[in-house]
Amino acid sequence: MVLASPRARGCRLTLPLGRAAETVVLGIINFCANNYLGLSSHPEVIRAAVEALEKFGAGLSSVRFICGTQSIHKDLEEKIARFHQREDAILYASCFDANAGIFEALLTPEDAVLSDELNHASIIDGIRLCKANKYRYKHMDMQDLEAKLKEAQKHRLRLVATDGAFSMDGDIAPLREICQLAQKYDALVFIDECHATGFLGPNGRGTDELLGVMDKVTIVNSTLGKALGGAAGGYTTGPKPLIDLLRQRSRPYLFSNSLPPAVVGCASKALDLLMESNAIAQSMAAKTQRFRSKMTAAGFTISGKDHPICPVMLGDARLASVMAEDMLNRGIYVIGFSYPVVPKGKARIRVQISAVHSDEDIDRCVEAFAEVGRKHGALS
Ligand SMILES: *Cc1c(COP(=O)(O)O)cnc(C)c1O
Ligand SMILES: *[C@@H]1O[C@H](CO)[C@@H](O)[C@H](O)[C@H]1NC(C)=O
Repeated sequence: MVLASPRARGCRLTLPLGRAAETVVLGIINFCANNYLGLSSHPEVIRAAVEALEKFGAGLSSVRFICGTQSIHKDLEEKIARFHQREDAILYASCFDANAGIFEALLTPEDAVLSDELNHASIIDGIRLCKANKYRYKHMDMQDLEAKLKEAQKHRLRLVATDGAFSMDGDIAPLREICQLAQKYDALVFIDECHATGFLGPNGRGTDELLGVMDKVTIVNSTLGKALGGAAGGYTTGPKPLIDLLRQRSRPYLFSNSLPPAVVGCASKALDLLMESNAIAQSMAAKTQRFRSKMTAAGFTISGKDHPICPVMLGDARLASVMAEDMLNRGIYVIGFSYPVVPKGKARIRVQISAVHSDEDIDRCVEAFAEVGRKHGALS
């Protein structure tokens, strides 16, 4: 099972600062990484990185538009666009940068952006940087979005921005309704798919595929740093004129180093594996189902729906923290989240399921939760 280092069981896991300074060996199962498909330890992904490193070098020492573009960068952009069934794609050092680039490049003071109040920090920062008029609608509240869209009719252009899947709650944006409203009020739709790309939808294309609106969402941003091999990198994919504009104007793209070949190699192989077969994504979905149903049967409340982010809702911050610590003593690596990362009184332990967890790993995690929950009074 996925530990911090690639080679599975029995390898070293470096604990984060504040837990223990040393490394521990053996038997700890990681349930808090964004490695949903297990591709960061996939032998073919690792081999592709090594081959790219040997063939294309360690790095480019340049930004893309000077001398930092190799065939593998163009190939990966083409592959990302094909994967998402969009016209073109542009690579960034991270999705954070992609989000920082898009709004400023796209929107003027005559335009408006409408953003879900629980959107990821990178979207919030990206919106802060642009000069458009800003509207924040209540989390997944379509009545509020409609009211804000009405108000925003006075502007030249409207862009609705939302996470596809929200990382703290594991809930999924109601894209079908959002796209209907966007059509009614003549707005574009932008989704950040960092917690969806590679595994949501029948072929892992993301939230837009899951909800049948791939042709209605205009712009998709996502990361290579989670399900797609977990190394680094982000991108925007969408209509060709928009991507051309970003290549001309997006500051994080223009003024930051191009992605190292090894990182490009990883992501490219990860996409190949996903386009060959949806077996890995389906395996993860089955394990998510197993975890959610067994935890619910044990008496826990799991937030979200059908997403490998499974927040075990506990309420009390101290309870979440002592339970997480006790889980680690039982070989299960999970982290408690409390205020200000989540609202007061909504502390939780966020469990993330991966395709590389075995059924036995999942069962061991559920058993540990039941024991620890009883010990600390979270279960009666
Ligand atoms: C992780 C994440 C990002 C940042 O992605 P990086 O590529 O690591 O910068 C942006 N948006 C969302 C919703 C994320 O979960
Ligand atoms: C996403 O796209 C938007 C607009 O296209 C862009 O401003 C933003 O920087 C991109 N990146 C991320 C991570 O959202």
